Amino acid sequence: MKDPLIIFDTTLRDGEQSPGASMTRDEKLRIARQLERMRVDVIEAGFAAASNGDFEAVRSIAEAIKESTVCSLARANENDIRRSGEAIRPAARGRIHTFIATSPIHMEKKLRMSPDEVVEQAVKAIGWAREYTDDVEFSAEDAGRSEIDFLVRIFDAVIRAGAKTINVPDTVGYNVPEQYAATLRTLIERVPNADKVVWSVHCHNDLGLAVSNSLAAVMAGARQVECTINGLGERAGNASLEEIVMAVRTRADVFPVETRIDTTQIVPASRLVSQITGYPVQPNKAIVGANAFAHESGIHQDGVLKHRETYEIMRAEDVGWGANKLVLGKHSGRNAFRARLQELGIEVESEEQLNLAFASFKELADKKHEIFDEDLHALMSDEAITPEVEHYRLVSTRFHSETGETPQAEVTLSAGGKETRASASGSGPVDAAFKAIESVAASGTELLLYSVNAITTGTDAQGEVTVRLSRDGRIVNGQGADTDIIVASAKAYLNALNKLHAGGQKLNPQV
Ligand code: KIV
Ligand code: ZN
Repeated sequence: MKDPLIIFDTTLRDGEQSPGASMTRDEKLRIARQLERMRVDVIEAGFAAASNGDFEAVRSIAEAIKESTVCSLARANENDIRRSGEAIRPAARGRIHTFIATSPIHMEKKLRMSPDEVVEQAVKAIGWAREYTDDVEFSAEDAGRSEIDFLVRIFDAVIRAGAKTINVPDTVGYNVPEQYAATLRTLIERVPNADKVVWSVHCHNDLGLAVSNSLAAVMAGARQVECTINGLGERAGNASLEEIVMAVRTRADVFPVETRIDTTQIVPASRLVSQITGYPVQPNKAIVGANAFAHESGIHQDGVLKHRETYEIMRAEDVGWGANKLVLGKHSGRNAFRARLQELGIEVESEEQLNLAFASFKELADKKHEIFDEDLHALMSDEAITPEVEHYRLVSTRFHSETGETPQAEVTLSAGGKETRASASGSGPVDAAFKAIESVAASGTELLLYSVNAITTGTDAQGEVTVRLSRDGRIVNGQGADTDIIVASAKAYLNALNKLHAGGQKLNPQV
């Protein structure tokens, strides 16, 4: 008999702390539904006190998700905890995850609190949280650099106050596997009533050790791992869910635990998160990278053809490769379209939005005969089908580019309801299009990143463009997709400008 390993996904909270990765309520709901389909045990839906938008997102997820526990992060203060408590109220199973820093450097320089005050605040926090739910998790932020005696003391206090899960984060990614495992082992030995709680780990990847540290801690007794899809997260990211889950499954001979994850949902989840956040997946990324199951060398190919297990330790189909079914084509009707959106967990808010989406789908199906799930996700993320009027909207584009000549772009866009045409030249058609848009928007932003990826395979695939812009310390990612990558680029640029225009700076819980 193996112990269950609780998979706690924090893509929607720590993942969202990646620069520019902030998501709308609807985008978060789509990801949450995919996580539920994947049978994630706990979904950290956000940090409810960060903004009204975050509160609403956590609340909508709490209303929609039935199978997974829905959790909100809260600093150890009354306001944060009450906001979280209200946000998770509709959940079938709701958790409050409260935290306070415990390392000498964080207590002294960041919190300016004495260790006694930190313990007192943590205990109060558990009391407030328990007014809303019995499922309370406590994290000692920067536990990886905290003194073990102090961790024992604070964990003893919060367990007595009613915390049910104790999380030991390596917040700054400083630990190494043997040492981190030893910390877990010592805590489980020394903290009174350690057997009455679930021990959890939360590792950052600053030294590329997040997955190794998490797995070492599992060997030492941790029974919850906090992780994110594609390893998204603050700075170098968090431990990646797909690597943890597949390591435990593939090396069942080594790990004394098993997860409930439906692994065939991993690749669809990875694609969805990448598409929504604009963070591409590197081709050689384990499990979900495009090359993860590709054999280049002749010797390997020959071996795999003769006997698959010569070079393959996992089967691509077990993690969802090849599951991107051809779903619809140009003859598909409105009902089939609506039904597939429902299956994908994409909510259509009104008949008007369905009509707009169906018209875009028909347009796309004319250009590209096979429409895959990824195309539908991109289409439903397009601002053209959102009923609310965005400040900037692309009306049309025209380009001229010829060998030996300077590329020219003409862009017609609607800015605040007023249509304006602008043209510019540039070093390439994308550069020219962005300059034309800037001649109207004069946004004063800095372009931090421009990237293009094909959504599916084939030369008729839609190109998906991510543009990262920064202004006054605020960073946003814009996405756009189209079979014409210049159009996709213009859409992505305008999408980023719309996010900046909408304002809404939100609190980062750890800053
Ligand atoms: O990295 C960290 O310490 C966190 C906590 C809030 C759990 O994200
Ligand atoms: Zn974190």
